[in-house]
Amino acid sequence: MTDLGTDNTLDEVKKRCFNCKKCRLSETRHNVVFDDGIPNSKLMLIGEAPGYYEDMQGKPFVGKAGQLLDRIFASVGLSREKDVYICNTVKCRPPENRNPLPDEKEACLEYLQAQIDIIKPKIILLCGNVAVQSILGNAGGITKIRGKWFDGGEMVHGAKLMPIFHPSYLLRNDTREKGGPKWLMWQDIQEIRKKYDSL
Ligand code: URA
Ligand code: SF4
Repeated sequence: MTDLGTDNTLDEVKKRCFNCKKCRLSETRHNVVFDDGIPNSKLMLIGEAPGYYEDMQGKPFVGKAGQLLDRIFASVGLSREKDVYICNTVKCRPPENRNPLPDEKEACLEYLQAQIDIIKPKIILLCGNVAVQSILGNAGGITKIRGKWFDGGEMVHGAKLMPIFHPSYLLRNDTREKGGPKWLMWQDIQEIRKKYDSL
């Protein structure tokens, strides 16, 4: 991995990322989607990759899944305006919203790592399998490991990590049944709020 040193500010990293052509996704993107929310947050959420609306607006989680994510945070009094820093594993939209390829994730990791190094959040939410794999490797599928706390070690400066369902998965599994994906997400966000208050 590229050593970016310690004197990079978030603005410097962002500027470099905006001009990035390290992988093929630069050829089809309309905008680089770097981040949203507040940079001195103790809570960071890492999603997968920009979709159509994110690519058009240059902002993460603004489409349907993003609106659901905002409601999930709001249910425990959290918001990206006040409390959360939001970014993605990969900063440019993959065509047709396909999963980012391994070489694209690897090329983009330097920006995610720089974001983690600069923000140094105490809690990192890994939203969906793509984010889980990038930070935890093969820890298991999301349905098995969601809602559990993991110690991330050096790469995340000792932050507590929790894998959570991706909101687009919840949109596809829209039952509120006890034990279903939405119900589980509401358990997880309450646990996250508790940890947030204790750190
Ligand atoms: N899904 C993601 O993972 N990230 C976004 O920014 C939007 C949808
Ligand atoms: Fe660069 Fe990441 Fe965009 Fe690829 S996805 S061009 S590595 S910013």
